[in-house]
Amino acid sequence: MTAQAGICAEPNLHAYYLMFDIKPDAFEAVRAALAEVPALWQSLCQEYPDADFSGLVAVGNEAWDELYPGARPAKLAPFPAQQEGQRSAPETPFDLFFQLRADRLDVAYIAVQRIMARLAGKVELKDERQGFRYLDSRDLTGFVDGTENPQGENRAAVALVAEGRFADGSYIHVQRYKHKMARWQKLALKAQEDIYGRTKSDNIEYESAHKAPTAHTKRTSLKDAAGNSMEILRQSMPWGSAAEQGLVFISCCNTPLHFSRMLESMFQPDEAGAFDHLTLFTQAETGAAFFAPSEEWLATQGD
Ligand code: HEM
Repeated sequence: MTAQAGICAEPNLHAYYLMFDIKPDAFEAVRAALAEVPALWQSLCQEYPDADFSGLVAVGNEAWDELYPGARPAKLAPFPAQQEGQRSAPETPFDLFFQLRADRLDVAYIAVQRIMARLAGKVELKDERQGFRYLDSRDLTGFVDGTENPQGENRAAVALVAEGRFADGSYIHVQRYKHKMARWQKLALKAQEDIYGRTKSDNIEYESAHKAPTAHTKRTSLKDAAGNSMEILRQSMPWGSAAEQGLVFISCCNTPLHFSRMLESMFQPDEAGAFDHLTLFTQAETGAAFFAPSEEWLATQGD
């Protein structure tokens, strides 16, 4: 099976993110349209070989059964929403998620136009965002994002389901965060660095003993009962307008469990009352759970 290229793609320069809901009478037509999507990804790569284009379509937890009544990925579940006082990670379900990435903005935009043409009349566009590389792959809080991501072959091992009917698919979680930039910028450099557990300009990880229990990298470095690291592959990119900005956070994994546990660890205080202090400086405005099937699986569901 062939995984959709957007799941394990290496970081690049531009992205468009589209969220759709399917119109009530259009599920069959959308199923047929999605069966053509792998061929669309291939033709975009062939037409613009210099653009390093990668496509990804993922189907939402709530839409899955109506779109594909015969088969459901075993672990597909609702988004694990969090609420703790003023801090929250809400669930805002969407039926379809597209991630269209390239090193050429015009090519990513051509992909948007082709998707819009194929889905015209069948879906409602619920959210759209343009992502971009900021400096040397930094989040807009100024810190390099993605350093501890799995590398090389390990990306596929972490992100893709290994076997069975849904082999080479991936469980996807997407959240659009809006940063509280004015509040963040009032922090001293050391306070910002303590929140991540890494230095800002040269991106060096603190020694474990020097990381606060509230540090983002502490709270998201989790182990399972057997002592194995619970990893995800992050494909996040910054978004921004003149007035507001943040991060489109994207997790790809062979299980939804790792993301769920990390999000819980960020939001829920532990026995000592510690939670991820990054959550004081950014607010998730959306949160949705999806599954991105392999290209062959998608292509054979159209009849
Ligand atoms: C690490 C930013 C949300 C999981 C990092 C790092 C940055 C960062 C700058 C350090 C460098 C790196 O290894 O990438 C952000 C921002 C977020 C956000 C700005 C939201 C606005 C999340 C969420 C999760 C998550 C929601 C998972 C639920 C991780 C993991 C690491 C990490 C697993 C690597 C930890 C390690 O092994 O050191 N993040 N992150 N992040 N983040 Fe986030």
